[in-house]
Amino acid sequence: MNIAIYPGSFDPVTNGHLDVIKRSSKIFDKVIVAVARNPNKTPTFSIDERVDFLERVVKSMPNVEVDHFEGLLVDYAREKKCSVIIKGLRAISDFEYEFQMALMNRKLDPSIETLFMMTSYKYSFLSSSMMKEIGKLGGCIKELIPEEILYDVQAKLRNE
Ligand code: PNS
Repeated sequence: MNIAIYPGSFDPVTNGHLDVIKRSSKIFDKVIVAVARNPNKTPTFSIDERVDFLERVVKSMPNVEVDHFEGLLVDYAREKKCSVIIKGLRAISDFEYEFQMALMNRKLDPSIETLFMMTSYKYSFLSSSMMKEIGKLGGCIKELIPEEILYDVQAKLRNE
């Protein structure tokens, strides 16, 4: 079975992430969307909230699974018997950091490949952090995140 892991913070999942999930689920037999628990970061949404949001959003996609992990991504990939990591690329600005991570992951485990998927043009400007800033300041985030999570995300951002 051809399995791919799509890792990220997903704090929270945006329409840009969803676009990558949908497109990669057409290429691979199974896609594991893996939410990273990073002890050095303070996310806006807890790991449980981020996983729950993703589960709601991928409900109609039978070959997409949501999970979370802590520690090295390559260790997690090995544990899942998966040799492909998918990363979304937005603009040139993403490239340097993603390139560095892909090469470092290859050094850590040469059997695991990173595949980059260009984001759709309409989401090339979108990030979770920019969406959260807009939401906190009372702007409209309706077209930026999946409708299944809009109410909950909006409520939390407005209360902050
Ligand atoms: O959505 P993000 O914050 O850009 O995702 C980054 C993520 C979670 C994919 C990256 O930080 C990661 O892989 N973390 C796991 C720890 C790890 O393996 N670090 C070494 C990467 S070279």
